[in-house]
Amino acid sequence: MTQNLILTRPDDWHLHLRDGAMLEGVAAESARNFGRAIIMPNLVPPVVTAAQALAYKGRILAALPKNSTFQPLMTLYLTEQTDPDDLASAHASGLVTAAKLYPAGATTNSESGVQNFNKLQPVLERMAEIGMPMCVHGEVTDADVDIFDREAVFIDRILDPLRRRVPNLKVVMEHITTAEGIAYAKSAPGKLAATITTHHLIINRNHILAGGLRPHYYCLPVAKRETHRLALLDAATSGNPCYFLGTDSAPHADSAKESACGCAGVFSATNTMSCLAEIFDRAGALDRLEGFTSLFGPKFYELAPNPDQITLTKGAPIKFPSHIDTGAGPVTLFNPGIDLHWMVTD
Ligand code: NCD
Ligand code: ZN
Repeated sequence: MTQNLILTRPDDWHLHLRDGAMLEGVAAESARNFGRAIIMPNLVPPVVTAAQALAYKGRILAALPKNSTFQPLMTLYLTEQTDPDDLASAHASGLVTAAKLYPAGATTNSESGVQNFNKLQPVLERMAEIGMPMCVHGEVTDADVDIFDREAVFIDRILDPLRRRVPNLKVVMEHITTAEGIAYAKSAPGKLAATITTHHLIINRNHILAGGLRPHYYCLPVAKRETHRLALLDAATSGNPCYFLGTDSAPHADSAKESACGCAGVFSATNTMSCLAEIFDRAGALDRLEGFTSLFGPKFYELAPNPDQITLTKGAPIKFPSHIDTGAGPVTLFNPGIDLHWMVTD
């Protein structure tokens, strides 16, 4: 028996599209199902000025399939030198939707990120004034903090004090992975929200480390123990609008992942909606999927939901390819390790 599920077209509130041949290779994978996506600015060099965001947006639009209506929502990468006027005018013109805070060294291409968070005060005050959200990679980078604790420590040491200094700033905690992140994200409705990735709802750290090292499950923040995954699944299926989808689909060529020092990032653009429908179905929460993928993100960003729908159909297990070929080399697709029965059919 087939079963259909019609959803408002989803959006991806955290996406890496890269540039050049990789962009050309992956753009269609997100454009197929998603209406819009918040585009991460961690290129080399990063997207720090309005002029760079405008040029990058042009390259993304050029890489989309003909007739695609996918909208890239651009972000600027915050540095200690960010000019509040440039940022504010890029936001006022509609070119840029949000700004991204990377602690220096926290993740892929974050070398130009922020070391001294106090230096951001004028920029953050300006963002609060104009209602421009800040997306934050919430991990400390101190060598003495265990990598599995870096999210919880970031909330206590950096994020909470920062939010007290700029109480009206809207903040999205990106790709949360812990019970601590979940608890903090719901503490200030309308001001604070969190994105949750597809893969963090499905894998825990055993998937990366037990029975052999699996580089294609390695990403940042790194997946935590099973209790945290279960807490994430509860949050995503709770219907609380402070949690919404940001896939953090982050393509790297296989050669860069399968290496003595492999890159962090999971590529899930192609099968994300099938994965999410599967796990929401298994959790008895299919009726909560649309809020998570299509309604709560626009609400927080003060945008209308997409005007059209997608249809998912449940049937026999689907086979996705193991990887996609791009001009930058093959990119392995996230393998959820469970049968997927839902496919986007329209
Ligand atoms: C991202 C990337 O590859 O750009 N990697 C990742 O593991 N998520 C960066 C990021 O979002 O941390
Ligand atoms: Zn990311």
